[in-house]
Amino acid sequence: MGKVATGEHHHGGRSSEEHLDKNVILGRLEIIPGQTILDAGCGNGYMSKEFSQLVGTTGRIYAIDPDETSITALRKETEGMNILATATDVTTMTPLPPSAFDLVYLSMVFHGFSTEQIQGFETEVNRLLKSRGKLAIVEIAKRDTPFGPPLRIRYSPEELKQALRLIPRATVDVGEHCYMQLFEKED
Ligand SMILES: C[S@@+](CC[C@H](N)C(=O)[O-])C[C@H]1O[C@@H](n2cnc3c(N)ncnc32)[C@H](O)[C@@H]1O
Repeated sequence: MGKVATGEHHHGGRSSEEHLDKNVILGRLEIIPGQTILDAGCGNGYMSKEFSQLVGTTGRIYAIDPDETSITALRKETEGMNILATATDVTTMTPLPPSAFDLVYLSMVFHGFSTEQIQGFETEVNRLLKSRGKLAIVEIAKRDTPFGPPLRIRYSPEELKQALRLIPRATVDVGEHCYMQLFEKED
């Protein structure tokens, strides 16, 4: 269940980079050459560029965000790389290929989804992931922190697990105030 129909919580243009331990995240995602990864709600795409290095020339990164300005900038910056940046919304049916993704990564986006958007997201993630593919959701802890959205719209790992029908895997601390919840798509 979404907390509130929070379509009104906007955070376009913000980057989580300073708050997260990228090495912990990348270590836990076990990315290997040749994989196909979706960075959903990529913002400035700093993680897409990290993923790009790890999947190598045989892999591909799709970076999506409804914010046209971010996507245009990322497209220019990553020209000639294995990153395909597209302005689209991950809570709707996107133009991305079905059953093609080893990993969907969603950082600091979920708390802004309404109940309807959560349903759309779940449907789309299930369409995009290969069987046994992973979903990684990074969020800010649900307690007082020096930054972050209002507490009432934050999710604890337990609440995230209840909100989505995918197999929950590990919960990992990825910064002083942030966690990553992993899920897997059923076979
Ligand atoms: C706080 S920023 C986080 C950006 C980046 N993931 C990071 O961790 O730095 C949230 C991003 O989610 C994007 N976003 C919001 N709703 C979205 C949706 N329905 N589908 C995809 N991206 C969305 C926003 O445009 C914004 O760029």
